[in-house]
Amino acid sequence: MAVDLLLGLQWGDEGKGKIVDVLTNNYNIIARFQGGPNAGHTLVFNGKKHVLHTIPSGIFHGDAMNLVGNGVVIDPVIFKGELDKLAEQDVDYKKSLLISRKAHIILPTHRLLDAASEAAKGKAKIGSTLKGIGPTYMDKTGRNGIRVGDLELSDWKQRYRNLANKHESMIAFYDVDIEYDLEELETEFFKAIDVLKSLTFIDSEEYVYQAQKSGKTILAEGAQGSLLDIDFGTYPFVTSSNTTAAGACTGLGVAPNKIGDVFGIFKAYTTRVGSGPFPTELFDEDGETMGRVGHEFGATTGRKRRCGWLDLVALKYACQVNGVTQLNMMKADVLSGFKTLKVCTAYKYKGETIAHLPYNIEAENVEPVYTEIKGWEEDLTTMTDASQFPQGLNDYIDFLEKELEIPITIVSVGPDRKQTIFRK
Ligand code: GDP
Ligand code: IMO
Ligand code: MG
Repeated sequence: MAVDLLLGLQWGDEGKGKIVDVLTNNYNIIARFQGGPNAGHTLVFNGKKHVLHTIPSGIFHGDAMNLVGNGVVIDPVIFKGELDKLAEQDVDYKKSLLISRKAHIILPTHRLLDAASEAAKGKAKIGSTLKGIGPTYMDKTGRNGIRVGDLELSDWKQRYRNLANKHESMIAFYDVDIEYDLEELETEFFKAIDVLKSLTFIDSEEYVYQAQKSGKTILAEGAQGSLLDIDFGTYPFVTSSNTTAAGACTGLGVAPNKIGDVFGIFKAYTTRVGSGPFPTELFDEDGETMGRVGHEFGATTGRKRRCGWLDLVALKYACQVNGVTQLNMMKADVLSGFKTLKVCTAYKYKGETIAHLPYNIEAENVEPVYTEIKGWEEDLTTMTDASQFPQGLNDYIDFLEKELEIPITIVSVGPDRKQTIFRK
């Protein structure tokens, strides 16, 4: 069986967790392929909200296996916190959670390095979640990292010590004040490592291969969004992994010709948390309304998300690099009550009007060109079928489908599992 992918098309927080949870009914295995605890994936069901950071969003379905792939970076302390919350909900994760031996481990000093790097950047800071993501992927590509499989080696603590010592001298190299008590951080870290070691470590690329061969269905869950991709995002204001479809091949060991459907998720408007360019960002009442109605605060850091209109130039680009086959539009309910909706269909760029994403989308280079569409008043949150959609929403969907040339097969009208409407 081919492996289907689900990934964010904007700057993250599109609602990936919610849709993976909904789609888990159709899959045997849910596999995270990149990112780490910088992600915050929210699931809402039975009146309760759950936020996952590293653990795949299929974990609440007893019959699905959940794999943390080799492309993921794991902070044992945060991971333990997630497991503790699952235990409180009586989720029997020991039988449904697998971890790739090739996944890299975030050390306490990686987090400190992240903080030191950001502090040293001053105003130019990336707005990182400070979870140690950048430094851990740097150690991975620099061939210095510690992997989950290393925990099974007798000398792994010595390897840890060597790397942590090196990190300490790097922290000192940054000319910033970072206060920390490494001994305290290490006590917590080693406790969490023991918990991690009680889980099942596997050679995940072999597992994924055999699962495909035996006809099992697999959904690969992305983290972050395409515009945060290390290659294709708004560099340097990006994360340190490939968040796009290719990342699922390297992050799980899936061959490119074994990728099936690619579900591309986007919000009916746009948000971004952290620094970096955002051409359709709003600084007016409309942006305020989106943030207030959409509760736009980060699931990992609690930071206020920046809000703006839908950017079709950026969205088309994301569909292209990912080979999206189906679109899922999230948070349509948040747009109820806007008299007029704006959609950016081109950029004014160096005196020209262009419809593709150029190298540089900083505000001084790019001015969005908008198409206006009449909005709708109706509350969507209680709707259960697309036949109930108001004319304004149908017009909005039709317009986007024509522009993007990809069907919108899911429209989400609220955070709950049940507030999910399938079309066609
Ligand atoms: P992820 O990182 O892509 O999984 O998304 P997040 O969980 O960070 O952010 C999405 C937020 O929107 C969460 O608070 C969800 O509960 C919420 N959400 C998801 N879908 C909808 C929707 O259709 N309508 C509304 N109002 N909220 C939604
Ligand atoms: P999910 O999976 C939104 C952003 C950070 C920062 C930049 C780099 O929940 O959609 P990092 O911690 O990776 O060094 O931060 O990327 N960022 C996210 N924004 N959703 C996320 O994940 C994000 N993960 C990282 O805010 O701008
Ligand atoms: Mg999120």
